[in-house]
Amino acid sequence: MDRWRGRVALVTGASVGIGAAVAKELVRCGMKVVGCARNVDKIQELAEECKKAGYSGVLVPIKCDLTKEEEILSMFATIKEQHKGVDVCINNAGLMLPEPLLSGKTSNWRNMLDLNVIGLSICAREAYQSMKKRNVDDGHIINLNSVVGHSVYPFSEGHFYTGTKFAVTALTEGLRQELREAKSHIRATSISPGVVETEFAYRAYSQEPEKAKMLYSQHKNLSGRDIAETVLYVLGAPPHVQIGELTVAPVESAFQ
Ligand SMILES: NC(=O)c1ccc[n+]([C@@H]2O[C@H](COP(=O)([O-])OP(=O)(O)OC[C@H]3O[C@@H](n4cnc5c(N)ncnc54)[C@H](OP(=O)(O)O)[C@@H]3O)[C@@H](O)[C@H]2O)c1
Repeated sequence: MDRWRGRVALVTGASVGIGAAVAKELVRCGMKVVGCARNVDKIQELAEECKKAGYSGVLVPIKCDLTKEEEILSMFATIKEQHKGVDVCINNAGLMLPEPLLSGKTSNWRNMLDLNVIGLSICAREAYQSMKKRNVDDGHIINLNSVVGHSVYPFSEGHFYTGTKFAVTALTEGLRQELREAKSHIRATSISPGVVETEFAYRAYSQEPEKAKMLYSQHKNLSGRDIAETVLYVLGAPPHVQIGELTVAPVESAFQ
């Protein structure tokens, strides 16, 4: 990770869960991390925790609702002004709302699409443009996908979410191909976790927390830290090594 010391990483959804764990690890490794989410106070608390721990990097919170393009563009403008641009973009923010295909609410489908697909694509595009303008040729775009981005499980409440994660699989491979066509060495990686114990299921089932509890009680789950270590592995690979896809799941899980 030495070559990333002092360089700028954007981590979306850095207020809790996987994003918070990734932001913390990157700060520990000496990166300047811009963490964004709607709840910027939580990122500020994490920034103070990192400072107290004596980590060599820094965490800079930015408030951004990633379902709003104008907020994303304004965030990239702020990053340009204050830190020149991004070298690494970790598209982590995402959500699942339990809305089956036969009966789900359109507004909730749209929310998942706006965040998991459109927001992620805008950030990837803006990150690439930022790298290109500064002749950064060893940058990295990492998309947080899921095991459901590769198989359709018989879980009707998750089918629309599954569709958004299948899109992430296609978008990451599409990015890789476009980067290669552009003769760029910027890398694109999809990381596909199985069950990670975070706020994710509690947010999905905000009206039925017992369902979330059930989901997390079936076996030993992954932690945000496990995924953060996977991110370090991906970023730490030598610049000529392209890790296209990495699936990480709990060893006892049926969903691999
Ligand atoms: N947990 C799992 O089992 C699991 C498994 C596979 C894949 N994943 C994927 O991993 C990623 C992270 O999940 P997680 O488990 O860490 O979820 P989480 O604990 O629910 O955290 C989600 C993060 O996304 C942010 N976010 C949500 N809506 C946003 C918006 N409109 N604008 C900006 N930020 C927003 C949240 O921040 P604010 O609410 O403060 O905005 C929060 O920081 C997601 O892409 C998810 O699909 C999770």
